[in-house]
Amino acid sequence: MGSTFWRRRTSARFSGKTVLITGASSGIGAALAREFARQGARVILSARRLQRIESLAREINAGGGTAYAFACDVTRDRDVDSLIAAIRLHDLPIDILVANAGFAVSGKFQDLSLEDYRLQFETNVFGVLRTVRASLAALRRTRGCIVLIGSVAGHVPSPRQSAYSMSKFAVRALAQGLRGDLRGDGIAVTLVSPGYIDSDIRRTDNRGRVHASAADPAPAWLRVPTPAAARAIVAAVYRHKREQVITGHGKLLVWLYRHFPWTLYGALDRGRHLRRD
Ligand SMILES: NC(=O)c1ccc[n+]([C@@H]2O[C@H](COP(=O)([O-])OP(=O)(O)OC[C@H]3O[C@@H](n4cnc5c(N)ncnc54)[C@H](OP(=O)(O)O)[C@@H]3O)[C@@H](O)[C@H]2O)c1
Repeated sequence: MGSTFWRRRTSARFSGKTVLITGASSGIGAALAREFARQGARVILSARRLQRIESLAREINAGGGTAYAFACDVTRDRDVDSLIAAIRLHDLPIDILVANAGFAVSGKFQDLSLEDYRLQFETNVFGVLRTVRASLAALRRTRGCIVLIGSVAGHVPSPRQSAYSMSKFAVRALAQGLRGDLRGDGIAVTLVSPGYIDSDIRRTDNRGRVHASAADPAPAWLRVPTPAAARAIVAAVYRHKREQVITGHGKLLVWLYRHFPWTLYGALDRGRHLRRD
Protein backbone atom coordinates (compact mmCIF):
# COMPACT_ATOMS: atom_id res chain seq x y z
CA MET A 1 0.00 0.00 0.00
CA GLY A 2 1.68 3.21 -1.14
CA SER A 3 2.01 6.55 0.56
CA THR A 4 -0.99 7.98 -1.35
CA PHE A 5 -3.16 5.70 0.74
CA TRP A 6 -1.89 7.24 3.93
CA ARG A 7 -2.14 10.78 2.58
CA ARG A 8 -5.88 10.19 2.69
CA ARG A 9 -5.60 9.67 6.45
CA THR A 10 -7.70 12.66 7.26
CA SER A 11 -10.54 11.33 9.38
CA ALA A 12 -9.95 10.86 13.10
CA ARG A 13 -13.32 9.37 14.00
CA PHE A 14 -11.65 6.60 16.01
CA SER A 15 -8.86 8.63 17.49
CA GLY A 16 -8.09 7.39 21.02
CA LYS A 17 -9.79 4.04 20.35
CA THR A 18 -8.09 0.66 20.27
CA VAL A 19 -9.46 -2.02 17.96
CA LEU A 20 -8.63 -5.72 18.23
CA ILE A 21 -9.17 -7.59 14.94
CA THR A 22 -8.95 -11.37 14.61
CA GLY A 23 -8.16 -12.78 11.16
CA ALA A 24 -6.25 -9.62 10.24
CA SER A 25 -3.72 -11.36 7.98
CA SER A 26 -5.91 -11.32 4.87
CA GLY A 27 -9.09 -10.13 3.16
CA ILE A 28 -11.70 -8.27 5.20
CA GLY A 29 -9.67 -8.31 8.45
CA ALA A 30 -6.59 -6.75 6.83
CA ALA A 31 -8.73 -4.14 5.06
CA LEU A 32 -10.50 -3.33 8.35
CA ALA A 33 -7.13 -2.84 10.04
CA ARG A 34 -6.08 -0.33 7.37
CA GLU A 35 -9.43 1.48 7.51
CA PHE A 36 -9.65 1.73 11.31
CA ALA A 37 -6.04 2.96 11.36
CA ARG A 38 -6.78 5.47 8.62
CA GLN A 39 -9.61 6.77 10.79
CA GLY A 40 -7.29 7.28 13.75
CA ALA A 41 -7.63 4.02 15.72
CA ARG A 42 -4.79 2.07 17.25
CA VAL A 43 -5.10 -1.47 15.86
CA ILE A 44 -4.16 -4.83 17.34
CA LEU A 45 -3.82 -7.43 14.59
CA SER A 46 -4.08 -11.12 15.23
CA ALA A 47 -4.07 -14.26 13.07
CA ARG A 48 -2.07 -17.48 12.80
CA ARG A 49 0.26 -16.17 10.05
CA LEU A 50 2.44 -13.90 12.17
CA GLN A 51 4.67 -12.72 9.30
CA ARG A 52 1.68 -11.34 7.44
CA ILE A 53 0.30 -9.38 10.38
CA GLU A 54 3.76 -8.14 11.33
CA SER A 55 4.23 -6.84 7.80
CA LEU A 56 0.80 -5.15 7.89
CA ALA A 57 1.63 -3.62 11.28
CA ARG A 58 4.89 -2.25 9.82
CA GLU A 59 2.94 -0.75 6.90
CA ILE A 60 0.45 0.93 9.25
CA ASN A 61 3.17 2.17 11.63
CA ALA A 62 5.21 3.51 8.69
CA GLY A 63 2.13 5.45 7.56
CA GLY A 64 1.82 7.21 10.91
CA GLY A 65 -0.67 4.82 12.53
CA THR A 66 -0.16 2.55 15.51
CA ALA A 67 -0.44 -1.20 15.09
CA TYR A 68 0.59 -4.27 17.07
CA ALA A 69 0.70 -7.88 15.87
CA PHE A 70 0.13 -10.98 17.99
CA ALA A 71 -0.19 -14.53 16.67
CA CYS A 72 -3.34 -16.36 17.71
CA ASP A 73 -5.26 -19.39 16.53
CA VAL A 74 -8.86 -18.82 17.64
CA THR A 75 -9.49 -22.57 17.87
CA ARG A 76 -7.06 -22.77 20.81
CA ASP A 77 -8.08 -21.63 24.29
CA ARG A 78 -4.50 -21.02 25.30
CA ASP A 79 -3.72 -18.87 22.22
CA VAL A 80 -6.72 -16.64 22.84
CA ASP A 81 -5.91 -16.27 26.54
CA SER A 82 -2.27 -15.43 25.66
CA LEU A 83 -3.45 -12.84 23.13
CA ILE A 84 -5.54 -11.06 25.77
CA ALA A 85 -2.70 -11.35 28.31
CA ALA A 86 -0.25 -9.80 25.81
CA ILE A 87 -2.66 -6.94 25.19
CA ARG A 88 -2.91 -6.34 28.95
CA LEU A 89 0.86 -6.54 29.31
CA HIS A 90 1.21 -3.76 26.72
CA ASP A 91 -1.29 -1.76 28.78
CA LEU A 92 -3.67 -1.57 25.84
CA PRO A 93 -7.44 -1.30 26.29
CA ILE A 94 -9.94 -2.92 23.92
CA ASP A 95 -12.57 -0.44 22.80
CA ILE A 96 -13.73 -2.43 19.80
CA LEU A 97 -13.38 -6.17 19.26
CA VAL A 98 -13.85 -7.36 15.69
CA ALA A 99 -14.36 -11.15 15.71
CA ASN A 100 -13.62 -11.70 12.05
CA ALA A 101 -11.44 -14.86 11.83
CA GLY A 102 -13.24 -17.51 9.84
CA PHE A 103 -13.32 -19.73 6.78
CA ALA A 104 -15.87 -21.70 4.79
CA VAL A 105 -16.31 -25.45 4.67
CA SER A 106 -18.01 -26.18 1.39
CA GLY A 107 -19.58 -29.29 -0.10
CA LYS A 108 -22.65 -31.50 -0.11
CA PHE A 109 -23.74 -32.94 3.22
CA GLN A 110 -23.06 -36.49 2.00
CA ASP A 111 -19.50 -35.56 1.00
CA LEU A 112 -18.61 -33.91 4.32
CA SER A 113 -17.57 -35.66 7.51
CA LEU A 114 -18.59 -34.79 11.05
CA GLU A 115 -15.01 -33.59 11.44
CA ASP A 116 -15.58 -31.01 8.67
CA TYR A 117 -18.60 -29.65 10.54
CA ARG A 118 -16.67 -29.68 13.83
CA LEU A 119 -13.74 -27.73 12.38
CA GLN A 120 -16.15 -25.22 10.85
CA PHE A 121 -17.81 -24.65 14.21
CA GLU A 122 -14.53 -24.69 16.14
CA THR A 123 -13.32 -21.72 14.09
CA ASN A 124 -16.41 -19.75 13.13
CA VAL A 125 -18.49 -20.28 16.28
CA PHE A 126 -16.29 -21.36 19.19
CA GLY A 127 -13.47 -19.14 17.90
CA VAL A 128 -15.83 -16.18 18.19
CA LEU A 129 -17.12 -17.30 21.60
CA ARG A 130 -13.58 -17.76 22.90
CA THR A 131 -12.50 -14.33 21.69
CA VAL A 132 -15.56 -12.56 23.08
CA ARG A 133 -15.33 -14.35 26.42
CA ALA A 134 -11.61 -13.61 26.83
CA SER A 135 -12.11 -9.92 25.90
CA LEU A 136 -15.12 -9.36 28.12
CA ALA A 137 -13.34 -7.88 31.14
CA ALA A 138 -11.45 -5.42 28.91
CA LEU A 139 -14.65 -4.49 27.07
CA ARG A 140 -16.46 -3.92 30.37
CA ARG A 141 -13.75 -1.46 31.39
CA THR A 142 -14.13 0.57 28.19
CA ARG A 143 -17.89 0.00 27.80
CA GLY A 144 -16.81 -1.00 24.35
CA CYS A 145 -18.25 -2.62 21.28
CA ILE A 146 -18.25 -6.14 19.84
CA VAL A 147 -18.39 -6.52 16.07
CA LEU A 148 -19.25 -10.02 14.86
CA ILE A 149 -18.57 -10.82 11.22
CA GLY A 150 -21.42 -13.04 10.09
CA SER A 151 -22.46 -13.55 6.48
CA VAL A 152 -25.39 -13.34 4.10
CA ALA A 153 -25.17 -17.15 4.45
CA GLY A 154 -26.26 -16.59 8.07
CA HIS A 155 -29.58 -15.30 6.71
CA VAL A 156 -29.97 -17.33 3.53
CA PRO A 157 -29.00 -21.02 3.71
CA SER A 158 -28.12 -22.94 0.55
CA PRO A 159 -26.96 -26.38 -0.63
CA ARG A 160 -23.22 -27.15 -0.50
CA GLN A 161 -22.99 -24.50 2.19
CA SER A 162 -24.75 -26.19 5.12
CA ALA A 163 -21.66 -26.25 7.38
CA TYR A 164 -20.75 -22.61 6.71
CA SER A 165 -24.33 -21.41 6.77
CA MET A 166 -25.06 -23.18 10.07
CA SER A 167 -21.99 -21.55 11.62
CA LYS A 168 -23.05 -18.09 10.47
CA PHE A 169 -26.65 -18.61 11.64
CA ALA A 170 -25.09 -19.39 15.02
CA VAL A 171 -23.03 -16.19 14.91
CA ARG A 172 -26.16 -14.22 14.11
CA ALA A 173 -28.01 -15.82 17.04
CA LEU A 174 -25.04 -15.07 19.28
CA ALA A 175 -25.09 -11.41 18.25
CA GLN A 176 -28.74 -11.12 19.24
CA GLY A 177 -28.15 -12.92 22.53
CA LEU A 178 -25.07 -10.89 23.45
CA ARG A 179 -26.83 -7.63 22.69
CA GLY A 180 -29.37 -8.19 25.44
CA ASP A 181 -27.06 -9.98 27.84
CA LEU A 182 -24.36 -7.29 27.75
CA ARG A 183 -26.61 -4.25 27.70
CA GLY A 184 -26.15 -3.81 31.46
CA ASP A 185 -22.37 -3.72 30.94
CA GLY A 186 -22.67 -0.91 28.43
CA ILE A 187 -21.24 -3.09 25.65
CA ALA A 188 -22.75 -2.62 22.19
CA VAL A 189 -22.94 -5.36 19.56
CA THR A 190 -22.88 -4.93 15.79
CA LEU A 191 -23.51 -7.87 13.47
CA VAL A 192 -22.04 -7.46 9.99
CA SER A 193 -23.26 -9.81 7.25
CA PRO A 194 -21.17 -9.52 4.08
CA GLY A 195 -22.08 -10.86 0.65
CA TYR A 196 -19.30 -11.59 -1.84
CA ILE A 197 -16.18 -9.62 -0.92
CA ASP A 198 -12.77 -10.01 -2.59
CA SER A 199 -10.66 -12.19 -0.29
CA ASP A 200 -9.08 -15.62 0.01
CA ILE A 201 -12.17 -17.28 1.49
CA ARG A 202 -13.18 -19.08 -1.71
CA ARG A 203 -9.53 -20.10 -2.28
CA THR A 204 -9.35 -21.82 1.10
CA ASP A 205 -10.09 -25.54 1.33
CA ASN A 206 -12.09 -27.43 3.95
CA ARG A 207 -8.98 -27.89 6.09
CA GLY A 208 -8.30 -24.15 6.09
CA ARG A 209 -5.41 -24.25 3.59
CA VAL A 210 -5.20 -21.32 1.17
CA HIS A 211 -4.62 -22.08 -2.53
CA ALA A 212 -3.25 -18.68 -3.48
CA SER A 213 -3.21 -19.26 -7.25
CA ALA A 214 -6.81 -20.54 -7.46
CA ALA A 215 -9.35 -18.27 -9.15
CA ASP A 216 -12.23 -16.89 -7.10
CA PRO A 217 -15.33 -18.68 -8.47
CA ALA A 218 -17.72 -15.91 -7.30
CA PRO A 219 -18.69 -13.72 -10.27
CA ALA A 220 -16.32 -10.74 -10.54
CA TRP A 221 -19.19 -8.31 -11.15
CA LEU A 222 -20.75 -9.26 -7.82
CA ARG A 223 -17.59 -9.09 -5.73
CA VAL A 224 -17.03 -5.93 -3.72
CA PRO A 225 -13.39 -4.81 -3.27
CA THR A 226 -12.17 -5.27 0.31
CA PRO A 227 -11.36 -1.56 0.95
CA ALA A 228 -14.95 -0.60 0.01
CA ALA A 229 -16.34 -3.34 2.26
CA ALA A 230 -14.10 -2.18 5.10
CA ARG A 231 -15.31 1.42 4.72
CA ALA A 232 -18.93 0.26 4.94
CA ILE A 233 -18.22 -1.91 8.00
CA VAL A 234 -16.32 0.85 9.82
CA ALA A 235 -19.14 3.31 9.07
CA ALA A 236 -21.67 0.84 10.56
CA VAL A 237 -19.53 0.51 13.71
CA TYR A 238 -19.24 4.29 13.99
CA ARG A 239 -23.03 4.63 13.78
CA HIS A 240 -23.51 1.86 16.38
CA LYS A 241 -25.68 -0.10 13.95
CA ARG A 242 -27.19 -3.29 15.39
CA GLU A 243 -26.94 -5.04 12.04
CA GLN A 244 -25.43 -4.25 8.68
CA VAL A 245 -25.59 -6.31 5.51
CA ILE A 246 -22.71 -5.40 3.19
CA THR A 247 -23.10 -5.40 -0.62
CA GLY A 248 -26.16 -4.57 -2.70
CA HIS A 249 -26.73 -8.20 -3.79
CA GLY A 250 -26.47 -9.27 -0.14
CA LYS A 251 -29.12 -6.77 0.94
CA LEU A 252 -31.44 -7.90 -1.85
CA LEU A 253 -31.02 -11.60 -1.01
CA VAL A 254 -31.60 -11.09 2.70
CA TRP A 255 -34.68 -8.97 2.03
CA LEU A 256 -36.13 -11.43 -0.49
CA TYR A 257 -35.50 -14.42 1.75
CA ARG A 258 -37.10 -12.66 4.71
CA HIS A 259 -40.21 -11.42 2.91
CA PHE A 260 -40.67 -13.57 -0.22
CA PRO A 261 -38.60 -16.73 0.38
CA TRP A 262 -40.44 -18.69 -2.33
CA THR A 263 -38.85 -16.42 -5.00
CA LEU A 264 -35.47 -17.97 -4.12
CA TYR A 265 -36.41 -21.62 -3.58
CA GLY A 266 -35.64 -22.69 -7.18
CA ALA A 267 -32.20 -21.07 -7.26
CA LEU A 268 -31.37 -22.16 -3.72
CA ASP A 269 -32.37 -25.78 -4.33
CA ARG A 270 -30.06 -25.95 -7.35
CA GLY A 271 -27.24 -24.32 -5.38
CA ARG A 272 -23.96 -23.09 -6.75
CA HIS A 273 -20.46 -24.34 -6.55
CA LEU A 274 -18.61 -21.48 -5.00
CA ARG A 275 -15.25 -23.06 -4.50
CA ARG A 276 -12.47 -24.71 -6.33
CA ASP A 277 -13.20 -28.39 -5.82
N1 LIG B 1 -15.20 -12.61 1.58
C1 LIG B 1 -16.49 -12.92 1.57
O1 LIG B 1 -17.12 -13.01 0.49
C2 LIG B 1 -17.20 -13.11 2.88
C3 LIG B 1 -18.60 -13.12 2.86
C4 LIG B 1 -19.28 -13.30 4.06
C5 LIG B 1 -18.59 -13.41 5.24
N2 LIG B 1 -17.22 -13.41 5.24
C6 LIG B 1 -16.53 -13.57 6.53
O2 LIG B 1 -15.50 -12.63 6.65
C7 LIG B 1 -14.52 -13.13 7.56
C8 LIG B 1 -13.13 -12.90 6.97
O3 LIG B 1 -12.98 -13.72 5.82
P1 LIG B 1 -12.32 -13.20 4.46
O4 LIG B 1 -13.36 -13.23 3.44
O5 LIG B 1 -11.57 -11.95 4.68
O6 LIG B 1 -11.38 -14.45 4.13
P2 LIG B 1 -9.79 -14.61 4.13
O7 LIG B 1 -9.16 -13.63 3.21
O8 LIG B 1 -9.57 -16.06 3.86
O9 LIG B 1 -9.37 -14.27 5.63
C9 LIG B 1 -9.67 -15.12 6.69
C10 LIG B 1 -8.90 -14.67 7.92
O10 LIG B 1 -9.28 -15.50 9.02
C11 LIG B 1 -8.11 -15.95 9.65
N3 LIG B 1 -8.33 -17.25 10.27
C12 LIG B 1 -8.87 -18.37 9.73
N4 LIG B 1 -8.86 -19.36 10.63
C13 LIG B 1 -8.29 -18.85 11.77
C14 LIG B 1 -7.98 -19.38 13.03
N5 LIG B 1 -8.23 -20.67 13.35
N6 LIG B 1 -7.41 -18.57 13.96
C15 LIG B 1 -7.14 -17.28 13.66
N7 LIG B 1 -7.39 -16.72 12.47
C16 LIG B 1 -7.96 -17.50 11.54
C17 LIG B 1 -7.04 -16.01 8.56
O11 LIG B 1 -5.75 -15.82 9.12
P3 LIG B 1 -4.63 -16.94 9.30
O12 LIG B 1 -4.81 -17.96 8.24
O13 LIG B 1 -3.34 -16.17 9.20
O14 LIG B 1 -4.86 -17.46 10.68
C18 LIG B 1 -7.40 -14.77 7.73
O15 LIG B 1 -6.79 -13.64 8.27
C19 LIG B 1 -14.87 -14.59 7.82
O16 LIG B 1 -15.50 -14.72 9.07
C20 LIG B 1 -15.83 -14.92 6.70
O17 LIG B 1 -16.72 -15.95 7.03
C21 LIG B 1 -16.53 -13.26 4.09
